[in-house]
Amino acid sequence: MNILIIDDDRTSPGLLEKKIKDLGYEVKTALNGKTAMEELAQKKTELILCDWMMPEMDGLQLCQNIRELQSEHYIYFILISDKNSKQDIKRGLKGGVDDYISKPIDFDELETRIEIGAGIIRLNQELNNQIKRVEKNYFQIIQMINLILETYDEKLGSHCRRVGKLSLELAKLHPEISEKEFPLIEAAGLLHDIGMIGMPKKLLQKKRTEMIGNEQKEFQNHPNLGELILSEIDILKPVAAIVKSHHEQYNGYGFPERLKHNKIPLAAQIISAASIYDNVIHKNNITLDKVPEIIQRFKGYQLAPKLVDLLLEINQANIRQEGQKEDIELELDKLKEGMMLSRKITMKTGAFVMGSNTELTSHGINKLKGYFRLDAIPDKVFIYKFSIRG
Ligand SMILES: [Fe+2]
Repeated sequence: MNILIIDDDRTSPGLLEKKIKDLGYEVKTALNGKTAMEELAQKKTELILCDWMMPEMDGLQLCQNIRELQSEHYIYFILISDKNSKQDIKRGLKGGVDDYISKPIDFDELETRIEIGAGIIRLNQELNNQIKRVEKNYFQIIQMINLILETYDEKLGSHCRRVGKLSLELAKLHPEISEKEFPLIEAAGLLHDIGMIGMPKKLLQKKRTEMIGNEQKEFQNHPNLGELILSEIDILKPVAAIVKSHHEQYNGYGFPERLKHNKIPLAAQIISAASIYDNVIHKNNITLDKVPEIIQRFKGYQLAPKLVDLLLEINQANIRQEGQKEDIELELDKLKEGMMLSRKITMKTGAFVMGSNTELTSHGINKLKGYFRLDAIPDKVFIYKFSIRG
């Protein structure tokens, strides 16, 4: 475990440093809050022993600055001080420190307190690992549902897959969306049209303008149906809430609730923008250079002006990428993560395996090798040259 001692007194940290090194810990020292922050940026530190009284930035302020850093791992903070009143201890603990030790330091007591800190750091690490595992499983389940959609109806599933990717791009560019919302928005994009599986299959191929009789009404049920399907699983309820609103329109003429402007969850507005953009290109077959003219018509009507601006920005980037859409055939053994399929992969039987524009993950590559071992697909696939790095 790495321990950082921060004290402006040049003699006391020397003694502390020696005692703690003798306990078998790795120790660094800093003379003030500023150098401590620099040290933290350079090296992983798990526990801090810090004097409360220091000029410029005192121990409590330093602790608060460290908490604001939101470091990936937990930093256990022990404040050292000769302020011993109950009031002081209360103030220190309320300020975010984990423990408090009084001067003069009793080294047996300090050893025990460091051991307690080490235990809490270990528990935190285990918790973080568990959270990462749950997040990974969560996302794999969403991708599996998307794959089932793509197997059920290729156009429906590939639309959802592209909307998932584009929604994430929009979320990353949108100033009002924080990083922690990215997975939720991507998941909602990937699953937004799941309610379409409850529609008659002939509806899947139709544009809105081609729907007749009861078909419009049936179609308008799919956001509610999607919400019902996803609400079966507690962890997907936040996704379900967004899916329900993905056909609301900025001007209030959408469905199912005719929500208007900021009454529509921003995440749902993002999915809606991504879905409209994808339909313009893949359902209405509009070329990228003609997209701005069409998308501008949605500004302030179906979509918030900001989202139209972001779509146009992404469209420009897509135009630049389109110019480099040459592809090359590669053996499965040469595939690497991040490469993008330029052509759809199907089994020799014609059954769907993976769509074009899929970005390969290590799992995806292994899956293709698995299909090859079953003699279901050839040993080569087509990859966009621009996605091959190095
Ligand atoms: Fe939809």
